[in-house]
Amino acid sequence: MATRQIGILTAGGDSPGLNAAIRGVGKAAMGYYKMHVIGFRDGFRGLMENRTMALDGGQLSGILTLGGTILGTSRDKPHKMPVGGKLLDMTDAIVANYHEHHLDCLVCLGGGGTLKNALRLKEKGLNVINLPKTIDNDVWGTDTTFGFDTALSIATECIDRLHSTAHSHHRIIVVEIMGHRAGWLALGAGLAGGADVILIPEIPYDVESIAEAIRERVNSGKPFSIVAVAEGAISKQDLAALAAAKQQKKATKEKARKAAKPPRKMDDGEADAAELIYASRTLRLAKQLEKLTGLEARLTILGHLQRGGAPSAADRILATRLGTAAADLIAKKHYGVLVAARGEGTRPLPIEEVAGKVKTVPPDHPLILSARRVGTNFGD
Ligand code: F6P
Repeated sequence: MATRQIGILTAGGDSPGLNAAIRGVGKAAMGYYKMHVIGFRDGFRGLMENRTMALDGGQLSGILTLGGTILGTSRDKPHKMPVGGKLLDMTDAIVANYHEHHLDCLVCLGGGGTLKNALRLKEKGLNVINLPKTIDNDVWGTDTTFGFDTALSIATECIDRLHSTAHSHHRIIVVEIMGHRAGWLALGAGLAGGADVILIPEIPYDVESIAEAIRERVNSGKPFSIVAVAEGAISKQDLAALAAAKQQKKATKEKARKAAKPPRKMDDGEADAAELIYASRTLRLAKQLEKLTGLEARLTILGHLQRGGAPSAADRILATRLGTAAADLIAKKHYGVLVAARGEGTRPLPIEEVAGKVKTVPPDHPLILSARRVGTNFGD
């Protein structure tokens, strides 16, 4: 049997555990199964530009504990890649490079966006395998994703540290936590860090309900509060305004379509304003709470601190488990799947079954119920 040729790339936002996964795939594929493995740099862009990295000369040694990705990453999509100032469909170039390297399989380490890109390549006839990576933990079909556990510990430690300063100054500290459109990270860190209020995208909030909870704490002798806010959390009012704006946009588009005119594009000022509204939502919340409670409020945005540095032991184990399972599947020629973590083991799920789906927090999730039992306010 000819030696199997494997390509590997990391795409989307980086995540602790990526190097452990690259090592897991690579060591199992090369060492155990005697396959050839080659890395592509900077996600799908590197595959399109044919920029490779050898992985068979000791490059996998000493990377288990490293944060980031030795391959580099990008958010470039095969079908919409910025090239020469334009967004071009570069899928054919990617397919050509896949064949030029005589690949039997491309292993893509990424989250929801990467799964959609992997599906496009699968539909072009390529053999792909996806490993679920993201600090957001929002990949559908898998128990968890690598990167999440590390980010959870970092965000929790930050909340711990914010507690003592909030306590000393009798302040509200609003802490913004990543997670894209899912609340897993804010919910987990908020619960582990004992946040008094947790706001997640899945439960739209009412600022008055939060203020009331904070005032009650003041009345019971606790003149400080920690408010853990997922970056995608939204108030009931903003949600309604967003829905109305979407409706209006749709109507305007429809009107332009009927009049056979191209829809009007947002000018730079409008685009900046739209971005600002999103970026300043947590700041606005802090200001509103200050006004409604009479307490001083501060905002801390944890940002990319949550994604940097060494992976936790749990993420190293998970990434190794999923990486070696990918090599096992390649050995069996079982392609076109997401390697999902299920219980102690793994399960291959057809990519078309998971791509495009997002795992959000069910509002009746046991963790939410537990948090409510210990008095946490969700702003609803
Ligand atoms: O998906 C991971 C994530 O960190 C999200 O939590 C966050 O919304 C996003 O990436 C930030 O992306 P970037 O690093 O491109 O700013």
